[in-house]
Amino acid sequence: DRSVKIAPSILSADFANFGAECEAIEAQGADWVHVDVMDGHFVPNITFGPATCKAIRPHIKTVMDVHLMVAPVDPYIEAFAEAGADVITAHMEAGPHIHRTLQAIRATGAKAGLALNPGTSVGNVGYLLDLVDLVCVMTVNPGFGGQKFIHSQVEKVRTLRKMIGDRPIHIEIDGGVTPETAPLVVEAGADVLVAGSAVFKGGSVENPDPYGQNIRAI
Ligand code: DX5
Ligand code: ZN
Repeated sequence: DRSVKIAPSILSADFANFGAECEAIEAQGADWVHVDVMDGHFVPNITFGPATCKAIRPHIKTVMDVHLMVAPVDPYIEAFAEAGADVITAHMEAGPHIHRTLQAIRATGAKAGLALNPGTSVGNVGYLLDLVDLVCVMTVNPGFGGQKFIHSQVEKVRTLRKMIGDRPIHIEIDGGVTPETAPLVVEAGADVLVAGSAVFKGGSVENPDPYGQNIRAI
């Protein structure tokens, strides 16, 4: 279904080669590029920060979709906006003031994303619909690529799709997306699929064709 966007996560790319990896996945059909920022505090893993985002920005023509797994998050929003993020996604669980956080993201001119961990209810999202451009349903516990899809989240996607109605809000799925799990969430109403290991497996900057095959298989 080509109305569904595929957003490869560079968490599964060669960290010594981000610029070339971003160019390769775009040439192979990526719709967006998903950038996972981890702080070793909100999640048990560390990746990189705004300086890296700024460095890769010129290598991305499409949407740079920045997923902040960071707490506290408010002190860093401006830096990621200045680094060129088109979408900045913060977690519902990253602090008590998600409403303020989403306002702060919008104030930079970036699109505002709201991510929900697998254990978080969709109920609160109802109060935030006027402030979000994207809701990211985590279908793994954030922190690592290559984990197994959590099937209980499909129902959450369905509920969210009903809540959103005809508002122009994306539903993004992040974690364990494969050719087997993608149809489940698309049927439930998702329109942006993040995929790390399923896109990058078997390919490299020198041999990028598997990236395209993998993207088309999702
Ligand atoms: C998980 C990250 C995801 C991750 C997805 O914390 O937010 O974006 O890279 O990786 P896969 O597709 O391998 O589950
Ligand atoms: Zn992510």
